[in-house]
Amino acid sequence: MKVVQVEHASGSYPVYVGQGLLGMPGIWERHLDGRVLVVSDETVAAHHLGRLAPVLEAHGRHREVILPPGEENKTVAQWQRVIDELVHLGAQRDATVVALGGGVIGDLAGFAAASYMRGIRVVQIPTTLLAQVDASVGGKTGVNHTDGKNLIGAFHQPVAVVADLDTLATLGNRDYRAGLAEVVKYGAIRDPHLFAWLEANADALASRLPDMLAECVYQSVRNKSEVVADDEREAGQRALLNFGHTFGHALETVTGYAQYRHGEAVAIGMVLAARLSELLGMAETGTADRLHDLLDRLGLPTRLPDDISRTALLKRMRLDKKNRADQIRLILLESLGRAVVRSCPADDISEVLNQS
Ligand SMILES: NC(=O)c1ccc[n+]([C@@H]2O[C@H](COP(=O)([O-])OP(=O)(O)OC[C@H]3O[C@@H](n4cnc5c(N)ncnc54)[C@H](O)[C@@H]3O)[C@@H](O)[C@H]2O)c1
Repeated sequence: MKVVQVEHASGSYPVYVGQGLLGMPGIWERHLDGRVLVVSDETVAAHHLGRLAPVLEAHGRHREVILPPGEENKTVAQWQRVIDELVHLGAQRDATVVALGGGVIGDLAGFAAASYMRGIRVVQIPTTLLAQVDASVGGKTGVNHTDGKNLIGAFHQPVAVVADLDTLATLGNRDYRAGLAEVVKYGAIRDPHLFAWLEANADALASRLPDMLAECVYQSVRNKSEVVADDEREAGQRALLNFGHTFGHALETVTGYAQYRHGEAVAIGMVLAARLSELLGMAETGTADRLHDLLDRLGLPTRLPDDISRTALLKRMRLDKKNRADQIRLILLESLGRAVVRSCPADDISEVLNQS
């Protein structure tokens, strides 16, 4: 087991990365307190809730709430269900919420913990690769509004994150690969060694070799923790984590959130951002091809489908509140391992979109 200690304004918390952690009592005695509410979804609970049972029995008073899976359930209505369960449990300010699931459960249960009695403890047990390498670390919690993703939320740091690699065994291939896109992102924006390591081990990672997986989750958590420790509330550095996301979000929106996993859209977005970096003379020729080749070997999509309107994508990208006049704010690369925030002319973005 490896541990990354994440620093934040009012303290720090450990992220445990390893196998067999769900049944490991040493971890749980340290982090569970008061009455415990486990929040999970139907799919994850069917596979993994049983492994937590001995820990919960040993702890004492607890309850479970199992929500329907999927982004469409990251709603105020499901958040209300979790709050109701906390009330029925008789949870006091010393209670603990345990979020067992992917990013949807982590965000929703985290927000319930943030808002119940103005904040109770939450332990995150991320069960998708995306949640292990990204969503569970950093303290962003929330739910969607019908008019927008993550419109309702709060910053609320967990007391611990338990990334048990065994839970990934039941994850489908598409979700697994989508998580790898975020790992590539850390390499591309700030960690050239990680990028080179991913290139050297792409085939082993694509086939989920356990040792590779442990290293990949550990390195990602280390990277994310360094970024969020410096910039807990997204004033500067943390914005770099949005590399590939402006293009990616536009693609997700234009395709009605039905065609791509988030990580798949980000993979395409990262290649587009790298091509734009070359076009603007910021990165040397070949940067985008290297990024493209790695993502391709990991089984991720790397170009826009022919039937998507480039004009519609650009229009969507212009909607971002941070943009001014004919400039769009993006994260671009100076090299693989170094990213910057830049305002870019819409014409150049259009050229890159049309070439993809
Ligand atoms: N808070 C943050 O900083 C942050 C960062 C990135 C993403 N997010 C959020 O994360 C969410 C996406 O997370 P996600 O990709 O984990 O989606 P998800 O939670 O919807 O999980 C994807 C699917 O996999 C299933 N699943 C989860 N773990 C499984 C397992 N071990 N075995 C089998 N099936 C499993 C789920 O039931 C679900 O159907 C989005 O809502 C996004 O906004 C938050």
